Amino acid sequence: MTNAEEHPVEISYRPGDPLAMAADALIVPVLAPGGEGGDVAAVNPTLGALDARLDGALGPLLRDARFRGAPGGTLVVPTLGRTPARRIVLSGLGDASDVTAEVVRRAYGSALTAARDAGSEAILAALPVGPQSLPLDPILAAAAEGAELAAYRFDRYRGSVRADGPPPRAVRSLVFAVADEGALGEGAGRAALGRAVAVVRGVSLARDLVNEPGSALNPVEMAARAVAAAEGHGLDATVLDAEELERLGAGAIVAVGRGSATPPRLIHLVYRPAEPAPGLGPIGLVGKCITFDTGGYSIKTYEGMLDMKVDMAGGAAVLGAMTALRALGVRREVHGVICAAENMISGTAFRPGDILTALNGATIEVLSTDAEGRLVLADGLVYAARQGATELIDLATLTGAAVVALGEGTTALFASDDALAERLLAAAGAVGERTWRMPLTEALEDKIRGDVGDLKNTGGRTGGAITAALFLAHFREGLPWAHLDIAGTATTAAAGGYTPKGATGVGVRTLLAYLTDPS
Ligand code: BES
Ligand code: MN
Ligand code: ZN
Repeated sequence: MTNAEEHPVEISYRPGDPLAMAADALIVPVLAPGGEGGDVAAVNPTLGALDARLDGALGPLLRDARFRGAPGGTLVVPTLGRTPARRIVLSGLGDASDVTAEVVRRAYGSALTAARDAGSEAILAALPVGPQSLPLDPILAAAAEGAELAAYRFDRYRGSVRADGPPPRAVRSLVFAVADEGALGEGAGRAALGRAVAVVRGVSLARDLVNEPGSALNPVEMAARAVAAAEGHGLDATVLDAEELERLGAGAIVAVGRGSATPPRLIHLVYRPAEPAPGLGPIGLVGKCITFDTGGYSIKTYEGMLDMKVDMAGGAAVLGAMTALRALGVRREVHGVICAAENMISGTAFRPGDILTALNGATIEVLSTDAEGRLVLADGLVYAARQGATELIDLATLTGAAVVALGEGTTALFASDDALAERLLAAAGAVGERTWRMPLTEALEDKIRGDVGDLKNTGGRTGGAITAALFLAHFREGLPWAHLDIAGTATTAAAGGYTPKGATGVGVRTLLAYLTDPS
């Protein structure tokens, strides 16, 4: 059982007036009034009704707190028995014409966090009423996604000796109340919630795996978790062990895993839709899954090694996304390939200067054992291509250089194909996963050309994210391919919106948006 499964938030849809229902907290979204002097209550009918229940006390309270419905702002209002809900959590949506799915996700995420921090376990949420730029069912899906993603926590290792007391209460239920039945029927409401729940479960699984320490999640354990997840979500799973990989000729992943007491695994998951859409060939999703990266003999510094349990986030994203495909009704065959290994030091570890042969026969000179991600992905990409994929996307915490280039919070995208890049950027934009396309600068190709073998596994310090991507491109087997370097986005140092501190589960929602987009 994963940590997220230990704390399920029960989510449901109930037609009716939210102001008439009991709860620990009622989330009320608030549109900002146009212009300077506009009245918040006037553009938000629910606030008017609430103000009446509170005998006109709400207006002065809002003015005093300077709450005007700006995005990101929340205000907790205790109702002291005047409404069935014990408190109201107001959450700003900003201008009606600027409301996007991402604004909604963030508003409900912040509101849920505020409600939980105030001690609420049973939470009720209203939907925005009035003019808006989005239909109600994507609003409901985004609200549910944002709130549920914010409710995520990883506390299975929390003991009882912390000075700051017991962990905050866990949210137990989230009920969406929709007063206007005409605007959103019960069937459409339930369907929107079902989609949101599938997405959130995938993200939470990825977050759980990334948050687990390296001692708990090694390549063998990762394979066991993947097989278990596959069983419950209609996926076929095959796991290749070190001997099978060796026999197959996957010399790169075998070399990376050789220094560890826990051997490497290549995990292959397949989703086959009941009704495949015509014209769309199978896609391969390939994830870097280094369960801990010490750097090997090109050892990392103390600082550089601290967070290296995160180095399996690409594999976690692939697994998280795969588990949601059936529930989302994806109509394309999807192959998930997770390249799991632990990069350690021992008498059997690989060394700088070693020459490896990858699955496609390319020879690779190891300059740095710390450039191990591109090695395991080389075999993974070729493996995925051989499964019949017509298009490849890989996700990897691949380079510190990507973080230097774009800063924390932005994924670097590289692609061999403009149309694929555009579609992925659109998917990432729709789900609020900030992504920026980087060039595959051909002139830098010289930096990774081998002296004795075909390729070197590093191209030096400058342009490090690009030379890493150029290296991967040698293993795409002629297929349209995209690479997402998530080194700067797989974890976050500070909580915000719907993302708690720690693992973000980045990539899962971009992949799912990409695979569900009808265009
Ligand atoms: N796992 C690291 C990259 C990384 C850095 C991930 C920071 C998350 C946060 C990767 O295996 C690595 O060590 N890359 C080297 C490449 C270099 C040796 C060419 C790097 O970025 O320094
Ligand atoms: Mn490394
Ligand atoms: Zn690494």
